[in-house]
Amino acid sequence: MNQSQAPVGVFDSGVGGLSVLREIRQLLPNESLLYVADSGHVPYGEKSAEYIRERCVLLTEHLLAQGAKALVLACNTATAAAAAELRERYPQLPIVGMEPAVKPAAAATRSGVVGVLATTGTLKSAKFAALLDRFASDVRVITQPCPGLVECIEAGALQAPATRELLQGYVEPLLAEGCDTLILGCTHYPFLKPLLHSLVPDSVSLIDTGAAVARQLQRLLGQHELLATQPAQPTRYWSSGDIQRMQAVLPLLLGEQAQVHVF
Ligand code: DGL
Repeated sequence: MNQSQAPVGVFDSGVGGLSVLREIRQLLPNESLLYVADSGHVPYGEKSAEYIRERCVLLTEHLLAQGAKALVLACNTATAAAAAELRERYPQLPIVGMEPAVKPAAAATRSGVVGVLATTGTLKSAKFAALLDRFASDVRVITQPCPGLVECIEAGALQAPATRELLQGYVEPLLAEGCDTLILGCTHYPFLKPLLHSLVPDSVSLIDTGAAVARQLQRLLGQHELLATQPAQPTRYWSSGDIQRMQAVLPLLLGEQAQVHVF
């Protein structure tokens, strides 16, 4: 097969990376996609960087064995823990990682106060500290780890009262501090946008990086002359967790039904 027609491998600790996958599909409809949800090991946000790195190597090996021409780490926590090691291990492989949208948020805020919703792992990472040093010197940034939220999304409980209560507890202190811009620094959280819109005033902007990741993938594939020109094959899915559950959640998150394979 012509290498440019090979698929792009995408992974996350669970189903959160599907928020990035849908942006990739929209921008690059010819790209065939492989998606692995490491839902048997979710949440990454509360695990050590070393544990996450080991998982990321296994996921990458699987995607390479399936013929992936490029890799998208559709997970902020995995990027912070493992992107550098993966780039070192696979120097020929185009790899796109992601990080919370601090730069666009700092440019967008009018109140000068930005809130970051992300996992404990992302917020504790050296990569995140460097991001703040680089782009947030002129604004006040308030970070909010959100334990428990990822599990709600994994269960497809996007509008459940318990999810609402948990989210409200995380968002209210940020609003009380005057945040007018909230960064969704975990790929699971964009699926809570409808709920978030009911909890925050219209004047508060919600920023995530899914679309920017898709654009970065487009640039990288272009540089490597790997952009697909023929129509995409259907996306193939794997999960290390509960297969039935992912099959049940896919229509809620992506509006499609598909078979999920065991990873
Ligand atoms: N979706 C992931 C992220 O973007 C991590 C969720 C988790 O497993 O804690 O950070």
